[in-house]
Amino acid sequence: MCGIVAYLGQKEAYPILLGGLHRLEYRGYDSAGIALMQSSGITMYKKKGRVDELQKFCNNLDTSGSLGIAHTRWATHGEPSEQNAHPHVSEDGSMALIHNGIVENYIILKQQLVNQGVIFQSDTDTEVLVHLIKNVQDKEKVSLPEAVIIALRMVEGTYAIAIISKDDPNQLIVAKKGTPLLIGIGDNEYIIGSDGAPIVEYTKQVIYLEDGDVGVIRIDKPIQISNVNDSKNLHRSPYIQTLELNLEQLEKGGFDTYMLKEIYEQPKAVRDSMRGRINLEKDVVSLGGILEYEQKMLNARRFIIVACGTSWHAGLVAEHLFETLVRVPVEVEYASEFRYRNPVIYEDDVLIAISQSGETADTLAAVEIGKKRGATVIGICNVVGSTMARETMAGSYSHAGPEIGVACTKTFTAQITVLALMALSLAKKKGTISMSQYHKLINDLESAPDKIESVLHYEQQIQRIAQYVATKPNAMFLGRGVNFPIALEGALKLKEISYIHAEGYPAAEIKHGPIALIDTNMPVIVVAPEQHTYDKVVSNIQEIIARKGTIISIVTEGDSVIKKMSKFTIEVPKIDELLTPLVTTIPLQILAYHVALIRDCDVDKPRNLAKSVSVE
Ligand code: F6R
Repeated sequence: MCGIVAYLGQKEAYPILLGGLHRLEYRGYDSAGIALMQSSGITMYKKKGRVDELQKFCNNLDTSGSLGIAHTRWATHGEPSEQNAHPHVSEDGSMALIHNGIVENYIILKQQLVNQGVIFQSDTDTEVLVHLIKNVQDKEKVSLPEAVIIALRMVEGTYAIAIISKDDPNQLIVAKKGTPLLIGIGDNEYIIGSDGAPIVEYTKQVIYLEDGDVGVIRIDKPIQISNVNDSKNLHRSPYIQTLELNLEQLEKGGFDTYMLKEIYEQPKAVRDSMRGRINLEKDVVSLGGILEYEQKMLNARRFIIVACGTSWHAGLVAEHLFETLVRVPVEVEYASEFRYRNPVIYEDDVLIAISQSGETADTLAAVEIGKKRGATVIGICNVVGSTMARETMAGSYSHAGPEIGVACTKTFTAQITVLALMALSLAKKKGTISMSQYHKLINDLESAPDKIESVLHYEQQIQRIAQYVATKPNAMFLGRGVNFPIALEGALKLKEISYIHAEGYPAAEIKHGPIALIDTNMPVIVVAPEQHTYDKVVSNIQEIIARKGTIISIVTEGDSVIKKMSKFTIEVPKIDELLTPLVTTIPLQILAYHVALIRDCDVDKPRNLAKSVSVE
């Protein structure tokens, strides 16, 4: 969740580190810090708040040096503060370290160090690492790389770390387990990042460290990589890959915010997620990444979908797609609950993990459980080369392009598209779908980008609705069938970026309790396109109006019934019922966006959140 960047080369490190922090800020933004190797030793600057605060603070200070490490934090242990910000340093100030992840046994390790007289400066788990490494180095009289390996063998949990030490001012040490770390190889320079964002400006040649790897980076020698699990400490030759990322994808491209840009990118994202996967001539839908396991999927007794947050909502949409089309039972699970529930898993189950980042700790843990219990484990993720992409047996990328806004938008619609393609491909092969239904769905799927485009034109109209919703302390979102997950997603979008309390319910469920909340002050946003439960939703709306609730509806173009019952209405183009989420979710994203702007919230970096939740 935190962002890590480090530099070793011939240039001034500071501007590169600062630029990297800005690009990584979506991973965490409650404090930031930089440590630079200077002739006098390590100089460190830290600040609570955004990277801008750190930058302002550093103006007019000495930021020289061509080796440095920098970090932007999402607090886990210890509140956001200067003291808890990274880097953390050894007691004598000769070693500095940045960390992403969690040291799970930090209490025991800390106690052991405290017993030896070490004085801690922060409340973080990370500080244990720097003291532990220093302690090992001093006691065992070993080199720093050796000390790092010995120390990391004592550490339980996850880490991506970068270390500099005054003892060897030309050396940068990195290590990773359970959370990503990349070494970018430039021209006589190395840029390290917790993802490709701070690297791509300088090089596309990268090494993805494997779990347990410790890399020693110097300008005068080739990179040495060894692994903490290798008792012989042998070095392996690094495997250099090309980063699949463009600089333009990381810019705002004329939009005020990443989130708005990403909302508007949805026609392209959905198109890209279908690209090369539908062959109209041969009349096949094919997802190359899962072909090897297709037979297992065709023979599946059950699909278990695991995910968190918005990806979980995509899983709920998939439940409708798979059960309707493939006629196999589907269970959709919160990964965080599934992993601790001792679930019953059969060898002929197929577990599908869905994740934008491919780094969500709970979803990755669910993947491990699925694998251990013998299920076929398939991944759907957006970030190429992510841990999920490597840990699942097979999978499909959602191909939405990088998503920087913390709230998921385009990756949600891209996930649904991939899941629809998967369901269609399996259904056709199993013969559980008629050819006319198959062709209609393919047709409608192909029309989805244009239909999403047309909904984007309603932004101004939705802005007016936002003026109304922004004045309310609560909101309720209702939907049925395949649009119930869209109600949940609408509520999640609103609460996470505008901080208005919002709940999503299946429309019929409200009479079992939530209807008690309805009064003139409660906007009720009903997702009610043409679908087989339309008349039932009309009755649910009547019940709300009878209690003086205010209806804001999302309906299919040409609707006359619900429109008349609503204070505000947004019309979306007609599309097959199973694919309606692709269009009904768009107005809800735009609504949340404008409510957040009106309430002066930072839509790209909502409070307390971070983009990839790599801690449990
Ligand atoms: C909501 C949001 C989160 C993520 C969740 C899972 O807008 O961004 O709820 O959907 O943290 O993240 P991924 O998909 O990366 O596993």
